[in-house]
Formats: sequence, structure tokens, C-alpha cells
Amino acid sequence: MSTIRLGDTAPNFTAQTTEGEINFHNWLGDSWGVLFSHPADYTPVCTTELGTVAKYSDEFNKRNVKVAALSVDGEESHHGWIKDINETQNTTVNFPIIADEDRNVSTLYDMIHPNADSKLTVRSVFIIDPDKKVKLTITYPASTGRNFDEILRVIDSLQLTAYHKVATPANWKHGDDCVIVPAVTNEDIPSLFPKGHTEIKPYLRITPQPNLN
Ligand code: BEZ
Repeated sequence: MSTIRLGDTAPNFTAQTTEGEINFHNWLGDSWGVLFSHPADYTPVCTTELGTVAKYSDEFNKRNVKVAALSVDGEESHHGWIKDINETQNTTVNFPIIADEDRNVSTLYDMIHPNADSKLTVRSVFIIDPDKKVKLTITYPASTGRNFDEILRVIDSLQLTAYHKVATPANWKHGDDCVIVPAVTNEDIPSLFPKGHTEIKPYLRITPQPNLN
């Protein structure tokens, strides 16, 4: 096990999931990815989380993002629990849940934090870009359900940087102005940002969100 840092290649693995065996990199293909772990099946917070992710599937699809969940429970347990998630959260789980009984993936991604729990995965999140580079890691405690609006917000920000050369300021949300990345020269601004920009300081150049009409 080694710490995964931003910019690292997401470790590849082959694993059994509720949608069959996957080779992670092949399964991702050209998509972005979210890999997230939860402590255990049949637990209340996890049930609401997986239901929420299922309900957000259009949002993930729109952004070309594939999502995979993981816990150290087995495939049979996952399948039984999915029925409960669908029933109680009024949705249909439509993404694979990795059955990491041998802890191979949890170990590769350092998802078990022994001082929190020696056997179960914590709530890790990894966002992976189409080049398989890790772009975000977050670790939540087991007792705190994740904010998937925040995960989508970060994906939007990462995609704006990747495709439009802007970063996003504090508390940015969809539709707000963005920050032109420092690597863009003033000479290139008119062609790259036809909506205009405001130079507050030479290092602080603001432009309307580029990918909106
Ligand atoms: C849960 O997943 O519901 C949970 C896990 C650990 C502590 C509290 C809740």
C-alpha cells in the first residue's frame, strides 16, 4: 500500500463487481471516473449515499463520468443490499459495486485506515480523469454521508480547467465567473475568452464561465 497523490496514475485492478468482473482501466475507457468506498453493506448512511449516487446518474452521464462503489463485503451481500437501496431510496442502482473481500483494491487505494477501523473501508473518494490520473482525493469519516453535489461541483471545475483553461474561485458554483489560469498569456485572452474578462490584478483575471451560452 502506498499513498495515492494527485497526479498519480490511478492503480489498475481486476475485481468482481455487481455488474461482472471489471478491469478498472478498461472499464473506465475514455471516461472520467469516481471510485468511492463505504464501510459496509446494510448500513444506514451508506444506503442513503448509494441511493443518492443512483439518482444522480444523469448528472454523472452528462459529464462523461463512470462511477464505481466499493466495500469489503461480497457480491451476494451487495446484490441483496441493492434491493433494499432501490426500495428505500426509491431508485435503481445502476453502477457497479466492487466486492473487495480480499481487500486488494482497498489496499491499493489505502481505503482502510486502521486507527479508524482495522477491517472496514472509510469513505474515500477518488476522481480520475480520462488519462487515468487522480485529480481529487477526499476521505470522510464513516459517520458522515458525503455531499455528492460537492463531488459534481469539483468534476465541473476540473473539466473547466481541462477543457477551457479556467480555474474556479472559492465557493464557485455553476454559472459563476471563473478565473483564467496563470499559464494563459494576456495576448491569448481575446481568442480564448471572447466573452471578455476583467483584470482585477495581473494575477487575478476573471471571465464568465466559458462553456455557457
Ligand atoms: C453507516 O454507514 O451508516 C455508518 C457507519 C459507521 C458509523 C455510523 C454509520
